[in-house]
Amino acid sequence: MAKEVVLSGIRPTGFLHLGNYFGAMRNYVRMQDEYNCYFFVANWHSLTTHPDTSELRNSVHRVIAENIACGLDPEKVALYVQSDVPEIAELYLYLNTMAYKGELEKTTTFKEKVRLSPDNVNAGLLTYPVLMAADILIHRALKVPVGKDQEQHLEMARNFAERFNHRYGDIFPSPQAFNFGGELVKILSLDGNGKMSKSENQMNTIFLADDDEQIRKKIMKAKTDGGPLTPNSVKPDYIQNLFTLMSQVSTADTIAKFEADFNASSEGNCIIRYGDLKKQLAADMVEFVKPIRSKAADIQENKELLHKIIRQGAEKARISAGATLKLVRDAMGMN
Ligand code: TRP
Repeated sequence: MAKEVVLSGIRPTGFLHLGNYFGAMRNYVRMQDEYNCYFFVANWHSLTTHPDTSELRNSVHRVIAENIACGLDPEKVALYVQSDVPEIAELYLYLNTMAYKGELEKTTTFKEKVRLSPDNVNAGLLTYPVLMAADILIHRALKVPVGKDQEQHLEMARNFAERFNHRYGDIFPSPQAFNFGGELVKILSLDGNGKMSKSENQMNTIFLADDDEQIRKKIMKAKTDGGPLTPNSVKPDYIQNLFTLMSQVSTADTIAKFEADFNASSEGNCIIRYGDLKKQLAADMVEFVKPIRSKAADIQENKELLHKIIRQGAEKARISAGATLKLVRDAMGMN
């Protein structure tokens, strides 16, 4: 039986961090054997908010290198750059005729971007969800691993697909949000305010490119408090977050020890020492990130290898994209 198609896009703005790693990338890595996976770097999308392209090529290379370092295998998945697949642009053009100005203007991310940059409300920004729909539909993808913030875009992609099918013939399946194997691990900012993100204070975000000292420093500065006031108390978010990180990188014994210390603590009898917890977590995190960082750096420096991977990804993507576009053109009488 043919494997189902999974697709996701990564914007090349900013460095990848632990929130991306535990929340998304590790999820992708687990999918690559069971699904026919397409993962790409959305460099066209970045133009809608970042018109200066002087750093773009570099960022695209970094994202590709970091994804491979995290375990994506370019032999198993199609790992490509959006701008290498011109079929996406053509489908975007067709889908633009099925997207209405009113619905595009109502999109949450559009309104947010207008608020943040009122001087750059370009048409590409307005039709961002149409380009994203083209990314997905060009491979007739069924499953799209994305976070909550992208669900509205995905719903729009379903609407455009349905309108197309209704007007020109049944070509597109209805793409759905997808997680592999249950709950995603959610990593909070180290100050406990919201999720870990690339735009917040850099001290509260651990990047895969951070060196050992930066990782240690950030973890040692993470928010804690005076300790639990009753045995078996509920952990505040920022404490839970440290335990969550520990659950991803530390040994079972280490985790069990700090859990037990936390649960046995009470007012005036605080057994858990957050300083020790953070020291241990920092040491384990340093060991965890080190090989990823060094592998990513090696790949990024090896331009020949990078170019080979990118070319190979584009070839795979264009086979599938070309087949879809042929169906689309036939259905629309554009042949
Ligand atoms: N909009 C997504 C984001 O901001 C990136 C993206 C572009 C994407 N095209 C996509 C995600 C297609 C999934 C499918 O993160």
